[in-house]
Amino acid sequence: MASPIDSIQFKHGPKIKNRFFLAPLTNQQSLEDGTLSEDEYKWLTMRAQGGFGMTMTCASHVQEIGKGFPGQLGIWSDSHIEGLTRLADGIKQADSVAIVQLHHAGLRTTKEIVGDTPVTAFDHAESGARGLTNSEVKKLIEDFITGAKRAEKAGFDGVELHGAHSYILCNFLSAEINQREDEYGGSFENRGRILSEIIDGIKSACHREFILGVRLSAEKFGMRTADSVETARKLMNDDVIDFLDMSLWDVFKVAEDEQFAGQSLLSLFTDLERKNVQLGVAGKIRTPQDAEAAMNAGVDWVMLGRAAMLECDFPNKYVNDRNFKPVEMPVPSSYLAAQGLSDKFQVYVRGRWPEFFAD
Ligand SMILES: Cc1cc2nc3c(=O)[nH]c(=O)nc-3n(C[C@H](O)[C@H](O)[C@H](O)COP(=O)(O)O)c2cc1C
Repeated sequence: MASPIDSIQFKHGPKIKNRFFLAPLTNQQSLEDGTLSEDEYKWLTMRAQGGFGMTMTCASHVQEIGKGFPGQLGIWSDSHIEGLTRLADGIKQADSVAIVQLHHAGLRTTKEIVGDTPVTAFDHAESGARGLTNSEVKKLIEDFITGAKRAEKAGFDGVELHGAHSYILCNFLSAEINQREDEYGGSFENRGRILSEIIDGIKSACHREFILGVRLSAEKFGMRTADSVETARKLMNDDVIDFLDMSLWDVFKVAEDEQFAGQSLLSLFTDLERKNVQLGVAGKIRTPQDAEAAMNAGVDWVMLGRAAMLECDFPNKYVNDRNFKPVEMPVPSSYLAAQGLSDKFQVYVRGRWPEFFAD
């Protein structure tokens, strides 16, 4: 089994110095028009300097109506390219591979945030989101591809498509939500068509060495586990992407779906034939031992979210001492500020993850 500090080479792109990747983390630190702020730059470059082999941005929306959060980083306009260029430069100067997570919030946004009725794969009574027309789906595909081209122009090494957490691509994959009757809905094949067309489009629009990854949820968020497994199997079997990022929220958990009762959720994915696609995982990897256990369970790389919020230099600490003891929650807000979490980010974290805070 590989160690988290072994280097890794995807099919495309530069060699990555280790297998600790920064998880995409929404931090609400961008300017309201989606351009990069000093706070967002500082937060991410601190992680690149802290030794992460790959530094991924937060979810960055490819259409204005796909904005899911105030202060979200945008990639829906050419006006974002200047800030993104500075960000890619800063990350790469620290010898970290720079990736943008491409996102559209779909039904997980509000009229207050986007100034219009939210849109998704199919009319959704609970959220009030409306289903996209066929030509709007084609425009969405084009805009994901344009987002990737902007990331490329800004100097990023690649992009990850956010297909998880009940955002728009996940809504398309979901049998529960996507009841469309055109070629983008209904059967498993039709529900996955949007993802395939975006992948094909990015591969032909961007340079050969541009890295392409996909993030999926494995359960909940409207996803049947069997559909997630089949989607993962198809992506790896078609060998069309460089990496697959499974967002499990707890890498050591047991599958909840009755069909897979008693089985480790992670094993459903590590057991698949990968061809040349490298598989990684995120969820409750808090300590060096957790990272090693996940690697030993058969993934190619690990992603840290909350552990990286608490410790910007987790990988560097691991390089110096494989048994270092990470800081434990709760911590004072001054500690988080010193780790590059501005007031805006802390307000967001406090609302959803109050366990971070000792004060
Ligand atoms: C503050 C915060 C923001 C997040 N933002 C995103 C995001 O923008 N995109 C995404 O795919 N996942 C997002 N996630 C999920 C993380 O990427 C990660 O999968 C999850 O936190 C589990 O990993 P962890 O236990 O190491 O934190 C977020 C999680 C947190 C805590």
